[in-house]
Amino acid sequence: MKGFFITVEGMDGCGKTTQTNNMVEYLKQQGFDVVTTREPGGTRVGEKIREVLLDPGNKGMNIVTELMLYAAARAELVETLIKPAVEQRKVVLCDRFVDSSIAYQGFGRNLGIKAVEEVNSHAMQGCKPDLTLFFDISPQEVVIRKTRSEQEDRIESEAIEFHNRVYEGYLKVAERDKERVKMINARKSVNEVFDEVKKCLDLFIRKGRYL
Ligand code: TYD
Repeated sequence: MKGFFITVEGMDGCGKTTQTNNMVEYLKQQGFDVVTTREPGGTRVGEKIREVLLDPGNKGMNIVTELMLYAAARAELVETLIKPAVEQRKVVLCDRFVDSSIAYQGFGRNLGIKAVEEVNSHAMQGCKPDLTLFFDISPQEVVIRKTRSEQEDRIESEAIEFHNRVYEGYLKVAERDKERVKMINARKSVNEVFDEVKKCLDLFIRKGRYL
């Protein structure tokens, strides 16, 4: 059995955390050794960087600092967790990865795709997801659906225009890498979304002969 690397992406509140938990169970049932992690974070250093990034007290952080901090947390995660796990034939399931930086920093902050790719090439050392599931739901639709009234973090509290640009960025990412990035319609019920996720995973596993 070969190892592989899957990432999940989407707007804040798109439901990817619930789906990631379902995916872990589904993959484990099929005998895969699954490791889950998240960005920013997933390592000791990365979790410290996460605190800085999401702290509402750091509002107004320089956008290049922000770009580099996300990349720094990523470098740590790639080196200490993702690469070793895939080499040990494990399945790594990561909640967000470089596509988040393209969408949020490249489009949301208007830094552009090129700058994000340049900075991240150092962090990623050629480590690319084998499959990315993009949970497609727009910021407006998320707002309508939202029921919780939790405290928002530094990124979540950005204006709707920011989130609209992020969404546009994600659509661009999906458009230019159709082979890797699969769009999941996240507007449906949890079960319906998961049915779509399972179809995607089944196809990916079959095509890559991972079992
Ligand atoms: P998190 O609480 O993990 O959000 P979610 O549960 O929606 O994934 O916070 C991560 C936030 O950081 C989220 O708003 C997206 C943002 N982010 C970036 O701006 N750039 C990045 O490269 C990554 C990985 C996340």
